[in-house]
Amino acid sequence: MLGSHSYGVEDFLRTGACANVRTLIEPMAGTAEFAYQGHFRFPDFRYLMIDLDAGAAERVLARPWLAETERHYFVSDVLDEEVWKQIKATSSGPALAFIGKQSHHLFDVHQLVRLLELGTIYADAIVLETPAMALVTDLASEEDLTRPEMQAAGLEVALVDVPDLAPNPFTNRIGFRLEARDATGTRELFDYPTWTVWSQPTLVALAQLSGLTTAYYHSELE
Ligand SMILES: C[S@@+](CC[C@H](N)C(=O)[O-])C[C@H]1O[C@@H](n2cnc3c(N)ncnc32)[C@H](O)[C@@H]1O
Repeated sequence: MLGSHSYGVEDFLRTGACANVRTLIEPMAGTAEFAYQGHFRFPDFRYLMIDLDAGAAERVLARPWLAETERHYFVSDVLDEEVWKQIKATSSGPALAFIGKQSHHLFDVHQLVRLLELGTIYADAIVLETPAMALVTDLASEEDLTRPEMQAAGLEVALVDVPDLAPNPFTNRIGFRLEARDATGTRELFDYPTWTVWSQPTLVALAQLSGLTTAYYHSELE
């Protein structure tokens, strides 16, 4: 399943395809906003998160979760089949995996196909959050992510193109970094020098090559 900015997890859970979902998996979870926010709406679901970042796991599990919600954070490579076996063994009822913030764009084509296959062998469906369709050459070279409370604290956060690395309209490769700026200067929070914008038609084609069924939501047509 392909998601979009304006179509969140609750919308997926309201569709017939996901009506019976009881386990939510967040691969490449990082700070796991999807699972953590989701558990307030669906506290009786199981929340299973995977990321390489042990520090993120510690921070997420230390957050004030509702006591009754079962949650597990696996510090592991999402391309390792062993972790998906553990996910399957820990799931209860139909399971939906959701990759937010377009994190699958970190992967090359072999890794991406592997992810689609693992996500559908060991979960019932996998959602990839995708950007609105646009030429990479038309994307703004800077995207402001500053929230009002950050601005009030004198902080600005933005995604900024890597200088000298022009977005490539043939490969859909772009490079950017997450920058935070305040009165003391600029800090680089994350660096994504090779990010492939996997467009929806490409993802549909890759899924078909793997024998998978694709569902999608076209946000402009509602
Ligand atoms: C853009 S961040 C994701 C943020 C997260 N989805 C969110 O909404 O906050 C990308 C995440 O992918 C994780 N990651 C990258 N490669 C990975 C891999 N092979 N297996 C598991 N996690 C991976 C990174 O550690 C990082 O937390």
